[in-house]
Amino acid sequence: MSYRFSQIPVDVPFVSTKHRTIKTAIPASETLSVLLEQEKYESHSMHGQLPVVWDKAEDFQVYDKCGNCWIDFTSTIFVANAGHSNPRIVDALRKAIDKKLLHTYTYAHEARSLFLKKLIESTPSQFEKAFLLSAGTEATECAVKLMRMHGQEIHPSKVGIVSFEGAMHGRTMAAEMLKGKQGKLTWVGHDDPNIYHLPFPYPWDEKGLSRSECDWEQCFEDNIDKLKSSGLDFENIAGFIIESYLGWGAIFYPKDYIKAIAKFAKKHNCLVTFDEIQGGFGRSGKLFVYEHYNVEPDMLCLGKSLSGSLPLSAVIGSKKIMDLPGIGSMSSTHSANPLCCVAGLANLEAIESENLVEESARKGVILHKRLNELKNKYSNRISWVLGKGLVAGLLFKDPATGKPDVLFPSRVCEKAMQKGLLLVHTGRESIKIGPPLTISDEALVEGLDVLEESIEELS
Ligand SMILES: Cc1ncc(COP(=O)(O)O)c(C=O)c1O
Repeated sequence: MSYRFSQIPVDVPFVSTKHRTIKTAIPASETLSVLLEQEKYESHSMHGQLPVVWDKAEDFQVYDKCGNCWIDFTSTIFVANAGHSNPRIVDALRKAIDKKLLHTYTYAHEARSLFLKKLIESTPSQFEKAFLLSAGTEATECAVKLMRMHGQEIHPSKVGIVSFEGAMHGRTMAAEMLKGKQGKLTWVGHDDPNIYHLPFPYPWDEKGLSRSECDWEQCFEDNIDKLKSSGLDFENIAGFIIESYLGWGAIFYPKDYIKAIAKFAKKHNCLVTFDEIQGGFGRSGKLFVYEHYNVEPDMLCLGKSLSGSLPLSAVIGSKKIMDLPGIGSMSSTHSANPLCCVAGLANLEAIESENLVEESARKGVILHKRLNELKNKYSNRISWVLGKGLVAGLLFKDPATGKPDVLFPSRVCEKAMQKGLLLVHTGRESIKIGPPLTISDEALVEGLDVLEESIEELS
């Protein structure tokens, strides 16, 4: 059962700094009706978030209607890399709305070509064409379809997809199947016999000890051989889909493990797709996370920070792969909506002109240095600090047992909220940090001070 934050207003010390204001009980009483109406009329599957009712979000700050203001370490959920309501995006959208073109279905429009051109020109040269969609989950399903179509060009049974246990690729059916068992798939009713799962190569072993000495290439070979023993013919693998880091903890793969996958894929003529929906567009200090692994994927799934705002996702790959589906056989009503394309173009321009990829790498050094200091200070509580650039995962353990602690990070998120800081609540033993890449150094440090205070007070 996931943690439920209390919606009962709590009197908390008021805060007034350059970047934060807390001037009411939290949650603010005047915002309760919004929370209650949503509880009443909306599936509770959407609930469980920190009880902050967003009224305005600008750059790295989030405001409610009652004058409270938070430093945002979430970027909503890795969407607002270019800052909330980036002025370029807002201006472009304003102009687009005034123009009066809100939807075209698959009819051509100028914003779509401008955006596609910018996207393809801003990404490495093996990505020649894109397919635009709305949600990330559609992009990962589309990548599976394309990998299988590509495999079937070679021979009809080359439809196997290899993914990682526990990876997040979305909430639609195939995307959930990619995640593996984890006890959540009973609603699907059946397993896809052609989806195979590798265990995630965690940096720790069953005892929680570091595996830094592990031979990761060998580890991959052992894992894939286990799939072979359970019936997988390597020649039937159409492709691998790799969440570019494991989302819930910002857990990156060992480089040699990914290199071993790339080598294997080449040998067995299968594709490698990176799901960069969360990690793409500068989050990790590089444009794409896969660049940390020194490999060249065939396809990327993009979403979230692709537009930095409106629903827009994409799959990009070579012409050969992207043109596999017949005309009209891969389309979606809301794909390439004019407003989303306008926002996407302005967003890519903002990321480029504001040097946000480099900024993420630079500020990432400040972030990770401080988090490692926290880990040293609270070594009985914090087991791992993971991530790169402006994404970090702090993993918590129970001081008494050393086992993963799910409750404490939820309480830290709640406490930080009461002090004017929003952290990514994962519902697991982790807290994630992912501020807009535009955050000032000063606000980043202030947010980290609040995180430390929250841990200290609860310890
Ligand atoms: C790596 C990754 N892939 C896919 C998705 C699904 O994206 P969406 O929620 O837009 O469907 C997510 C969402 O969190 C994600 O983090």
